[in-house]
Amino acid sequence: MIDFDKICRDYVSKINEAAAHYVSSSAFEGRESYGLDVMLDAMGYSLGNGGKRIRPMLTLEFCRVCGGDYKSAIPFAIGVEMIHTYSLIHDDLPCMDNDDMRRGKPSSHKVYGEANALLAGDGLLTLAFETVLSADIDAGKKAMAALELAKAAGASGMIGGQVMDLANEEKAATLDEIMQTESLKTGKLIKVAAVMGCIAAGASETQIKAAEKYCENIGLAFQIVDDMLDVTSDEATLGKPIGSDSENGKSTFVTLLGLDESACYAHELTEQAKAALDIFGSEGEFLSVLADRLSERKN
Ligand code: IPE
Ligand code: IPE
Ligand code: MG
Ligand code: MG
Ligand code: MG
Repeated sequence: MIDFDKICRDYVSKINEAAAHYVSSSAFEGRESYGLDVMLDAMGYSLGNGGKRIRPMLTLEFCRVCGGDYKSAIPFAIGVEMIHTYSLIHDDLPCMDNDDMRRGKPSSHKVYGEANALLAGDGLLTLAFETVLSADIDAGKKAMAALELAKAAGASGMIGGQVMDLANEEKAATLDEIMQTESLKTGKLIKVAAVMGCIAAGASETQIKAAEKYCENIGLAFQIVDDMLDVTSDEATLGKPIGSDSENGKSTFVTLLGLDESACYAHELTEQAKAALDIFGSEGEFLSVLADRLSERKN
């Protein structure tokens, strides 16, 4: 049996250390400017400790289970976390979900103002690609990883999902529409996080397919649980306001299925995710426990 909590803590501490490095002034040596200082402060504020680091953990663990050295995939992992963090900064803006707390702290726009929060998001989005493309990894693999990340983050991925999510405030969305929204706004980044780990390791097609299947299922379960926690949790536990979805009149899994059916569905998806790990044998144990932990999470 693996010590899941210890492995998790070790990954999170490596991720936090690397994330802090990429937004430190030493990483930008020779590129000083007033604007840079302001932005590094704002970018570091949001990227710093506080997130669960699920996406970068997936990058590192899929690199490892596919036979790679997980340390080589750290720049890929941080690149995905930068995109995720930027999406949260923009998601909280008054013109989007209008939420004042994130990761247990005031949201970026509450500290830096709306314009600088917007720019800090833009800064993280561009730095994500700089980080991926500066990795000490074969150029072909880096190009492939950057391309996959761009597709997952952009209009045919996370951004497209955010657009659909806003449209769902104006109407009673169907289950199909909610599924499509969630698989884009949340699922695509979760999936690409794993795929980038596979790319770093030089994984086989079969391994990549298994990673994708696992992530499609945990990704959907992840957003179902997020929608449930928006109703059932409290701000201190969650680190972000509750009731945001209903305040915005948003159709979610909970408004459509109710809490009990949502929980059953998340459980079913988690079992399907775990089944996709069969090809990794006992090496898949961390990912299997991770799927369970995510479906039972309280924040
Ligand atoms: C929150 O993601 C936004 C969603 C896509 C549901 P996380 O729950 O992973 O947020 P952090 O990174 O832990 O703050
Ligand atoms: C956001 O979904 C997904 C993103 C792409 C940022 P939510 O709006 O439900 O995320 P939270 O609940 O604010 O973290
Ligand atoms: Mg939102
Ligand atoms: Mg939100
Ligand atoms: Mg939410």
